[in-house]
Parts: sequence; C-alpha cells; structure tokens
Amino acid sequence: MITTSEAGLAGVVAGQTALSTVGKKGFGLTYRGYSIEDLSEHASFEEVAWLLLHGELPLYEQLVSFSEDLQVRRSLPDHLKQILEILPRKSHPMDVLRTGCSVMGCLEPEESAEQQYEIAMRLLSSFPSMLCYWHHYHHSGQRIEVETDDDSIAAHFLHLLHGTPAAEHLCRALDVSLILYAEHEYNASTFAARITASTMSDLYSGITTGIGTLRGPLHGGANEASMELIESYVNADAAEQGVMDRLAAKQKIMGFGHRVYKTVDPRSDVIKRWSHTLCDETALVPLYEISERIEAVMRREKGLFPNLDFYAATVFHCLGIPTTMFTPLFVFARTAGWSAHVFEQRGNNRLIRPAAEYNGPGPRVFVPINERA
Ligand SMILES: CC(C)(COP(=O)(O)OP(=O)(O)OC[C@H]1O[C@@H](n2cnc3c(N)ncnc32)[C@H](O)[C@@H]1OP(=O)(O)O)[C@@H](O)C(=O)NCCC(=O)NCCS
Repeated sequence: MITTSEAGLAGVVAGQTALSTVGKKGFGLTYRGYSIEDLSEHASFEEVAWLLLHGELPLYEQLVSFSEDLQVRRSLPDHLKQILEILPRKSHPMDVLRTGCSVMGCLEPEESAEQQYEIAMRLLSSFPSMLCYWHHYHHSGQRIEVETDDDSIAAHFLHLLHGTPAAEHLCRALDVSLILYAEHEYNASTFAARITASTMSDLYSGITTGIGTLRGPLHGGANEASMELIESYVNADAAEQGVMDRLAAKQKIMGFGHRVYKTVDPRSDVIKRWSHTLCDETALVPLYEISERIEAVMRREKGLFPNLDFYAATVFHCLGIPTTMFTPLFVFARTAGWSAHVFEQRGNNRLIRPAAEYNGPGPRVFVPINERA
C-alpha cells in the first residue's frame, strides 16, 4: 500500500502489463519478450505491430494479410478531409492528429469493444494519410490522393510526404524508428490512455488522450526540441559552448535522461547508427558531429545519456521530414502500443483512480461574498 506520494509517481508500480519490459535487470527493453535489438534488426514495423496486438510473432501468411489489411484502410472520409482543410495552416501537426483522431471517433464510432481491433488498424493506416493530406493542402494547395500501394506504413508516409516513392533503405530507416517508438510500458501517454480506457470509454478517446499527453517536450515532443537544438549550432565547438551555457543557466537539454533508464537507453545505439549512416549519405555530417559533441558534453557534465529522441531527430531530418512532424511519427508508431494497452486494460479492467495526499487548508467557515474582505 502506497501511503506517501512520490513526485511524478517515480518508481511507483501502477499496474501490470505483458507488453514490454523497460530497464528490468536481465531483460533490457523487450516487446512481449523479444529484445528491441532483435526486433529492430530483423523485423518490420508491421510485424512488431502484430506482435503487440496479438501477443505472438505472425506467421508469414498472417503478416502478408495484416499488411494488406492495413493497406486498404488508408483512405480518409470526405468529412474528415473537409475538417482538415479548415484547420489553420499554422496548427501544430500534433494538434491536427489529435483532432483527426477525434473526428474519426465521430464519423466511424466504436459501438462495441468487438470493433477495437478494426479501429486500431484504421488509425494505424489513416494517421499518415491525415497528416499528409492536411500538410499538402495547406502548403501547396493540393488535395492529394492518400492511397498508395506501398507495402509498409513507413514507405506509404514517405511517398505521400515527398510525392514519389522513397528508396528502400530510407523506408527501412523510418521503419526501424517506428519499431523503436512502438511501445514503452507505462510511459506517460500510455498510462493516460489506460486511464481513459479504465473508465470504459472508447478507443478513439484513449488514443486522443495518448496524443495529447505525448505532445509535451518532456515526452514525445523531445525529438522536435532536440532537432531545434542541434541545428541552432554552426559546428561542434559552438554546440559545446552553447550547451555549457544552457547547463549553467540550469536549462534542460531535450533528448537526454530518462525516468526509468539510469545509464543507457537501449534504443539510442540503434538509432545513432542510422543517424551516422544517413548524415554521411546526405552530406549532413556537421549535424552528426554536433550531436556527438552534445552527447559528450552531457556525459561529461551531467552523467546523462541520449534517449531515443536525440538521434531520431537527425534521422528524420535526413529523411526530409519537417521538424514539426517528428512527434506525429511517434504517434504513428505508438498507436500500436497504445491500442495493445487499451486491449489489455479492457481485458482485466478496474477503474484507475488513485488517491491524493491532501496538503491544503484545514476545515474553514464559509464566508458569504458580501462579507469577504
Ligand atoms: C526524461 C526526464 C523528464 C526524466 O525526468 P525525471 O526522472 O523526472 O528527472 P528530473 O527531471 O527530476 O531530473 C533529475 C536531475 O537530472 C537533471 N536532468 C535530467 N534530465 C536532464 C536533461 N535532459 N538536461 C539537463 N539536466 C537534466 C535535472 O535537472 C535534475 O537535476 P537536479 O537534481 O540537480 O535538479 C528528464 O530527464 C528530462 O526532462 N529530459 C529531457 C526531456 C526528454 O528528453 N524527454 C524524452 C524522454 S524519453
């Protein structure tokens, strides 16, 4: 029984999950028991999404049919397109997705929990379409066709964004990023989604809750903040000086540290290798050098290590993705994890309603408004 509250619930076990382990001794990061190193090396995002939603790795035929099922759910309802068109051009893409998810909940509502799997598939498939439809309408005045025959979410998104199919290794770079972002135990947005599910609300509400919680820079928004930091410096020496100044001013450096990991984020090594490869290939080596110097300064000065968001930023940048779309990419991936958590919560539900330690004033006599000083 917890009697005193830990600030930010740090270290508090708030429930059970069979979905993933984060930072457990002897496990590292696993999704349903499979290591993130193996999954990011050998699996596709679709394979991982199946694993999260079903509990087991798919057989070949299951994966083919799952990918096809995702492919045919990429269209957008006309009413959603109209709403995307009237959203402001300057909206943050996370606000666009949060709104888009909510609108889908009105247009194709979940009328019974039996539809939950179908809705998770629909959202996984249609989020990239929503974002790119809104983006192109407002940035080039085009009403794009949102259905492609690309066989993965990564390839579909890059195709829609750039207007042409992307090279295979670029699709793989994004695919790996989606795998790394797909699931992470009781992180803030997942926990928020589970709380929503625990009230017996619908799946769209759970995912909308997740998107809103993910948006902040202490959570998903850190990848955008990392990019802004990295590209604010002209070279590694300037970055070292700049980060030292920020630390002296007691500012946080986004993309470093973690609530659960204490020495390393196992996802960072994987994404760092992709960052190196892509910065080399796109002649953006200075961005990689700046990133490595910031990492060295953070290790030396604070003993802090990069989390997934730090090197993911340069990977996305090298893929030609606008910075404000970085956190939405996290949404594309984490929709698999959020949905699986909602299914799990629903499978053994009890309302999540913790208690608070009261620290306000003692009982007081009510003073009528005309007698207040
Ligand atoms: C992730 C994070 C929120 C975890 O926070 P937490 O467990 O609550 O830890 P705290 O914020 O209390 O930090 C503990 C100490 O480390 C410092 N610290 C933690 N992360 C830091 C960072 N990124 N830059 C500078 N200092 C940092 C804090 O200032 C604090 O120092 P103090 O004890 O001298 O005050 C935190 O590390 C952070 O804000 N990181 C940057 C945002 C980010 O990258 N988020 C994505 C997470 S995957």
